[in-house]
Amino acid sequence: MAFELSAETLSYIEKTIPRYPQKRSAIMMILHAIQKEKGLLSLEAQEWVAEKLDLAPIQVREVVTFYPFYREKPIGKRHIRVCRTLSCALNGGYKVCDAFKKEFHTELDEISPDGRVTVEFAECLASCGTAPVAMVDDQLYENLNEEQVAAICEQIKKETPAADTAGSKS
Ligand code: FES
Repeated sequence: MAFELSAETLSYIEKTIPRYPQKRSAIMMILHAIQKEKGLLSLEAQEWVAEKLDLAPIQVREVVTFYPFYREKPIGKRHIRVCRTLSCALNGGYKVCDAFKKEFHTELDEISPDGRVTVEFAECLASCGTAPVAMVDDQLYENLNEEQVAAICEQIKKETPAADTAGSKS
């Protein structure tokens, strides 16, 4: 089936491209918009972007694989990113990550069995003074400990129904 986007995303893309002196410079904004709608950047999506911006598919793939915030694999409904850079690592970031994994009976970079989350490590989230920190989607949580992680997980479980099948975001 041909790669398709919603009218809203298409309209955003059509408006975004002319804002840049060169079409290719819109690549990151377009990739973000597509990932927001689809949950990931499939090869079909990357080919579509390449055609749209007069690029070779490999040039789009280089961008997708270079930046850690772009995804080629589906993730759970909520995206948990735990900082593992120095300040956070020294202040318990690894324990925080283990606590998230334990709460959702999952492994790093996997979709949890209930489909609710994917837990990943991230590099510095620009809040080193309040280490250890983690983000759940766009929300930053600071000065974390295992009790706070348990409270955040309880909230996620309340707000996010378990998926019938893992990877429902794709
Ligand atoms: S080291 Fe974790 S936010 Fe900078």
